[in-house]
Amino acid sequence: MLEVKDLSITFLDDGAKAVDSISFSMAPGERLGLVGESGSGKTVTALAIAGLLDRGRVRTEGQILFQGLDILSCKESELLKIRGKDVGMVFQEPMTSLDPLMRVGPQIEESLRVHSKLTARQRKALALQVMQHVDLPDPETTYRKYPHQMSGGQRQRAMIAAAFISRPKLLICDEPTTALDVTVQAQILNLLLRINEQSDVGLLFISHDLSVVRRLCQRVAVMYKGRIVETGPAEQVFSDPQHEYTQRLVAAIPSRGKGRRQ
Ligand SMILES: Nc1ncnc2c1ncn2[C@@H]1O[C@H](COP(=O)(O)OP(=O)(O)O)[C@@H](O)[C@H]1O
Ligand SMILES: [Mg+2]
Repeated sequence: MLEVKDLSITFLDDGAKAVDSISFSMAPGERLGLVGESGSGKTVTALAIAGLLDRGRVRTEGQILFQGLDILSCKESELLKIRGKDVGMVFQEPMTSLDPLMRVGPQIEESLRVHSKLTARQRKALALQVMQHVDLPDPETTYRKYPHQMSGGQRQRAMIAAAFISRPKLLICDEPTTALDVTVQAQILNLLLRINEQSDVGLLFISHDLSVVRRLCQRVAVMYKGRIVETGPAEQVFSDPQHEYTQRLVAAIPSRGKGRRQ
């Protein structure tokens, strides 16, 4: 489904190489975790795959093949067909990615307005259905709410609903639970897992939090300073990390100590 080949990304204004020759691939329906400390290049990678990098501000090298189409070199019109339809994105802070002045229901429908010929009534019916699917309470009522009238967890569910409503092949989740408290975080992870298992949407799950990735992902790629330093099945990487940086990350997982679990 996705193949990233020797991808490098350089910001033209300061000449900094944010991503340095990374390669990885994802099979349909796979859950891949991209982990690494802040500044390691995870978000820039995610934006590149979603076709959201400003082509005038960055230089890219390599290829990102999504279902055979090169995201980096295809026409903007082709990108528009993919973005928000075959590739959905969920960001860390739904308060900033949802429009505060717009009711949440129409925001969930947004990609249908762009990508489908459904009528307003059909779009709303689908929105209510997907809201139910992500466990938003009383969809008819929530549909009319503004983002500030919802909890953080509900807003993140709404974001997931918005990303999922067009049945994407790939859902890129960039720190989707980082701003949430631990209980809500667990609920959102369960939701993503359920969506993945019921629909074969692939998950590219980005987090600086290894314990979260360990719970959710089948395979992980570890990023450090713009490079992928280690990749493999999640269990293997976490139980027997090879790269020195991964070893440090794994040693720092708090839940491996006793304190937090108790
Ligand atoms: N718009 C930008 N302009 C210049 N440099 C950027 C920009 N966005 C990110 N960077 C740089 O790219 C690197 C990777 O950033 P990012 O992908 O956001 O890291 P992560 O998501 O892993 O925390 C960082 O060094 C960051 O400073
Ligand atoms: Mg980031």
